[in-house]
Formats: sequence, structure tokens, C-alpha cells
Amino acid sequence: MRVITFVTQKGGSGKTTLCTNLAVVAERHGVRTLLLDLDPQASAEAWYQLRDAPTPKLVRLGAADLPRALELARGQGFDWVLIDTPGRDEPAVAAAVRAADFCLVPCRPTPPDLTAQPATVATIRRLDRPFAFILNQTPPRGFRIREAQAGLAVLGPVATVTVVARSVFQDAHGVGLGVLEYEPDGKAAADILALWQWVVRRLEKLADEPQAHFARGPAA
Ligand SMILES: Nc1ncnc2c1ncn2[C@@H]1O[C@H](COP(=O)(O)OP(=O)(O)O)[C@@H](O)[C@H]1O
Ligand SMILES: [Mg+2]
Repeated sequence: MRVITFVTQKGGSGKTTLCTNLAVVAERHGVRTLLLDLDPQASAEAWYQLRDAPTPKLVRLGAADLPRALELARGQGFDWVLIDTPGRDEPAVAAAVRAADFCLVPCRPTPPDLTAQPATVATIRRLDRPFAFILNQTPPRGFRIREAQAGLAVLGPVATVTVVARSVFQDAHGVGLGVLEYEPDGKAAADILALWQWVVRRLEKLADEPQAHFARGPAA
């Protein structure tokens, strides 16, 4: 079982969006996925409550219940556990990072988002967990993406895939769907599929060469 934690102290970067969308794609590929919502704001749970589909499963819980939840998930044969965390530094964040095999740090390509990252990275590095940044809500192309990637590369590994800002993410969230379900052939779905493939590759690499996860710069 692999545990992937979505973490950044910057609210609104896309933790919940990427977490729920990746869960939908993983299930679509036969990966049994459990979402754990550790955010008291519970926006992943709100999304889940709108859903009719039986998968992915979601449980909202507090940090104290995380070890037990992971034990149960293992016993129930889940392949992936995706943890959504609050956008503030609180005990739940450290607990979720500590439990992670891999942390994904969503970041928008804007100055306030970029300057918020060192604090998040400090937490992850203190707990010695592998991680990578993923740029979210980017323009379709252009210098802003390259500049943000270069800025983040100073702090740690940066995913070579990015997720473009598209309103379909908001539309899908509002009706309890992933973009893959809402608009399967759309560009947002293509971005999420690319992210899924990247995460799978990255987890394989984690198994083969753990040190690669701490190298700063582009992470293929
Ligand atoms: N790639 C994207 N394109 C368009 N809107 C997005 C994208 N990612 C996130 N959003 C929107 O931005 C807002 C914040 O995203 P959210 O996932 O809730 O962030 P966080 O969980 O980090 O606070 C939400 O309204 C969400 O729908
Ligand atoms: Mg959230």
C-alpha cells in the first residue's frame, strides 16, 4: 500500500482538487484507492457526499485516528491512500506527512504561492519524506510556468507535468465528479491522466533509487 499526502500551507493551491481527481483516475486504472480527509474544512468530504459512484471511498478523520485508519486500509486491501490536508500548519499536517510514502506539494505559479513554499518544505524535510512540487492552475503555456519551475527547483524536485487552470475542475467538483468523469476527452482530464502516469513512474523510481526524491530540479 502506498500513502500519498497532498500538502502545502498555502490554501487554494489545489490539494483537494488534485487529490480527488487523482483518486478517480487511480480507481479507473484498477488501483483501489482510499481518500482520507484530514482538513476540518472537509471540502473533499463535501465532494464525496455528492457522489453516486461507489469508488473511491473517503473517510474524514482527525490526526489522532490516522495510524488506525491506515492499518485498517492495509487490512482491507487498498492499494493507494491519498491524504488531503488543511492549508495551515497544524498537527494533522505533520501526521499526514509522517505517514506518507510520498508528498505532493501543489503550487500556483504566483509570487505569494512561491514564497509560501519554504515553510512546507521545511516540514517535509524535517520528517525526511520524499516529495515533489506540482504546478497547478497554470496558464496553458508560457514563461510563468518556466519561471515558477525554476524557482521551485531551488527548493526541491518539481514534477515535469503541470495542471492548467480550467473551470471544468470547479464544475466537476461542484457535482461530485472528477474531470475524467465530467469531461473524459477534455484537456483537464488529459492533464490529470498525465499526472497519474507521472505519479506511478515516480513511485516506481522511489522504490528503485530513494535518493532521487531529494534531488532539487526537474523530476521526470
Ligand atoms: N487546475 C485548476 N483549474 C481551475 N480551478 C482549480 C484548479 N485547481 C484548483 N482549482 C480551484 O481552486 C480552488 C482551490 O482549490 P482547492 O483544491 O480547494 O485548494 P486547496 O485544497 O489547496 O485549498 C477551488 O475552487 C478549485 O476548484
Ligand atoms: Mg482543500
